Amino acid sequence: MARKMMRGTVAALSATALLALGACSSEQAAPSTDTSNGDEQMAEGGDELISIGFSQVGAESGWRAANTQSIQDTLTEENGFDLNFSDAQQKQENQIQAISSYIAQGVDVIAFSPVVETGWDPILQEAKAAGIPVILTDRAVDSDDDTLYESFIGSDFVLEGEMAGEWAAEQYDGEGFKVVELQGTTGSAPAIDRQQGFADAIAGSDLEVIDSQTGNFTRTEGKQVMEGFLQKHDDIDVVFAHNDDMGLGAIEAIEAAGMVPGEDIQIITIDAVKDGMQALADGKINYIVECNPLLGPDLAEIAKAVIAGEPVEKRIVVEDEAFDQEAAIAALPDRQY
Ligand code: AHR
Repeated sequence: MARKMMRGTVAALSATALLALGACSSEQAAPSTDTSNGDEQMAEGGDELISIGFSQVGAESGWRAANTQSIQDTLTEENGFDLNFSDAQQKQENQIQAISSYIAQGVDVIAFSPVVETGWDPILQEAKAAGIPVILTDRAVDSDDDTLYESFIGSDFVLEGEMAGEWAAEQYDGEGFKVVELQGTTGSAPAIDRQQGFADAIAGSDLEVIDSQTGNFTRTEGKQVMEGFLQKHDDIDVVFAHNDDMGLGAIEAIEAAGMVPGEDIQIITIDAVKDGMQALADGKINYIVECNPLLGPDLAEIAKAVIAGEPVEKRIVVEDEAFDQEAAIAALPDRQY
């Protein structure tokens, strides 16, 4: 069963205009890159390129690798952009430094995916004072002032958690199942929202979350945290991992402990990147809620509109699906990321 959810004021405009993305493995080194030469450049046809500074969270997951590729493949000179891309290695201070340097360079637009939700107002106020519009991609900021950014493009993380929790409650209610939760990066929007959505959806069922800890969205930490859970608890029935990579790490820990993932311990994850979908097709994961990483085309469209002075939607919600084993087997041959 593949469930298609579309919400919000604007559908995922270009998420279907998919880019050819290669298989992505987690935790790949992704050094900061400056693809801009700093000079004003002209696009073919004589229009000036839009200079855009993009501060990425890091390279923590297969999802992030696909997201970076989508952005770099879309914000090209051929498409009218002069991209200055930097990788913050999951550190807020690195993102603030990158944004500060984009302001100093006087880029036309700044875009970023905030590693955590809070603490952005001062740097966003600087961008606003400099007259540089900001577009948020993937993750939200927690701010009382929504004039500090033009638009936020990304999935509804609360709904993703709810979809995962609703499926768990449908499958397991009445069994008295114990759940452990592998959380994303502490303070990040997806970790906060997916935890909330899942908790809301299982409320009223007899599923019980007996432990919850961050695995920082990485496969390595997901495995380590799962090893700790297995040492501490001998009654784990279900793992809810906030992304595929941590779920894949949990699979390694479960197998190392002599158990069968997907059977002895059920696994539910979020993202639906190729490695996760393969594990679902192989029966090692039981259910995946998608989080679409192909945000480059929408970002390009919004950036062009902002520069042209056209009105843009404040919130663009990206379309997500959910997959069980049968749906994963059907989707895998054409999977873009
Ligand atoms: O913000 C999106 C989340 O960040 C993805 O679900 C996760 O894999 C990534 O690291």
